[in-house]
Amino acid sequence: MEANSTVVLIFHVVAGDMVKCLVGWRVRKRREWKKAVRVVREVEEECETSVERLRQVVDAMAVEMHAGLASEGGSKLKMLLTHVHNLPNGSERGTYYALDLEGTYFRVLRVHLNGQQSAILEHEVELQTIPQHLLTSTSKDFFDFIASSLKEFVEKEGDDSELSVARRKELGFTFSFPIKQISVCSGILITWTKGFSIVDMVGKDVPACLQEALVRKGLDLRVAALVNDTVGTLALGHYHDADTVAAIVIGTSTNACYLERTDAIIKCQGLLTTSRSMVVNMEWGNFWSSHLPRTSYDIDLNAESPNPNDQGFEKMISGMYLGDIVRRIILKMSLESDILGHISSKFSMPFILSTPMIAAMHEDDSPNLREVERILKDILEVPDVPLKVRKLMMKVCGIVTRRAARLAAAGIVGILKKIGRDGSGGITGGRRSDMKMRRTVVAIEGGLYSNYTLFREYLHEALHEILGEDIAKHVILKVTEDGSGIGTALLAASHSSNNVDRI
Ligand code: BGC
Repeated sequence: MEANSTVVLIFHVVAGDMVKCLVGWRVRKRREWKKAVRVVREVEEECETSVERLRQVVDAMAVEMHAGLASEGGSKLKMLLTHVHNLPNGSERGTYYALDLEGTYFRVLRVHLNGQQSAILEHEVELQTIPQHLLTSTSKDFFDFIASSLKEFVEKEGDDSELSVARRKELGFTFSFPIKQISVCSGILITWTKGFSIVDMVGKDVPACLQEALVRKGLDLRVAALVNDTVGTLALGHYHDADTVAAIVIGTSTNACYLERTDAIIKCQGLLTTSRSMVVNMEWGNFWSSHLPRTSYDIDLNAESPNPNDQGFEKMISGMYLGDIVRRIILKMSLESDILGHISSKFSMPFILSTPMIAAMHEDDSPNLREVERILKDILEVPDVPLKVRKLMMKVCGIVTRRAARLAAAGIVGILKKIGRDGSGGITGGRRSDMKMRRTVVAIEGGLYSNYTLFREYLHEALHEILGEDIAKHVILKVTEDGSGIGTALLAASHSSNNVDRI
């Protein structure tokens, strides 16, 4: 009897301890979970983009645009002149080349234009990788490499070409870096972005460097137009739809351009008397305003970037950075709580989490969030993450992406406001619902918008919220595929010396 009661007693003690342990474990887990949730809640609050805040960003964008047009250095928005006064309209004829210099590769294109607007433009294209060492070499080495590839491409042209010997071949050059343009076919590099650092090229005329290399390689090709990728996008957009007034590139990096009245470009009044409008390359990636909802993660990312205090808007909205903002938030969650267990060294590796990865996590519609699980395991080396934690990760992706898309929408409305197409009657006017709104098309290019469905939906939603349904229905965002290639060839055509009757 006595032995039995001892056993029962021991059992009670052990069971009691186990229950205590279990309760303790549960309490601790709940505490850790709450800490992680708190981190997410704080980020959510800091990333808040109410329509009121977005309207402040709209106003700030329009004000900065004015300031950048008023004087050189008047704003962080460079508002660069492109000297493109005429956008393609379908009357272009002939065969033209384009060279599109992207991040680590470039493309060469040959585009055939028959003088009639056509939904599909006949063209050939080749992609070339730029050897890594050339990104930090000399302008001579760099352009010699490009010119050799171009020569090979041009020489592959068949004998049945429309180009007669008398007609010199012409090239549009897409150079998507900040350039101070003196004419449509010349421009001085202000600074490099996107990991390029060919130091001797800063301050030099970029088309002249290319032209010299073409001569060295014995290629009779004239650089007819130097074009930012946004300007190529606008050109192609306008070719297809004459109501296109602005273009946005939102992919790895971001920028915008639009058609401005020359009399509004105060910084060069007197110089621009022959034409009523000009495309302005805003370099909006460098936009800054105290109304932008900035978090400690943005501040750290900026401080650790190779270009601190530059490209502030780009660092909040473009594909190059969204993944890294998410990584920083997840790292903070893991440091403040143990919800991800052991923190692998991967967490501290900048840019290990790319934006396509966060898109895949965010848009994971499998019941158990298998894609989120896979990315956490394969990329960040965290296995066995519970479902509710995976859901929290997904939420983080949503917060960062939603803020980016809504700010991009505010940027677009800022441009519309500047040119009086937001239905408000100008920069100082109040909102007038009775105003007659013209159909307004904004050409848009870039993987973030085209490939990330939720980003696109957030952007559209914000556009409608800011403008209101009555105005928003007149604003159309049109994806323009390959403006930076085909659009640039179109600009080479419309600025061709073979085309003297077109101004
Ligand atoms: C460049 C712009 C370019 C944009 C998109 C930015 O980093 O400064 O000139 O248009 O990237 O490619």
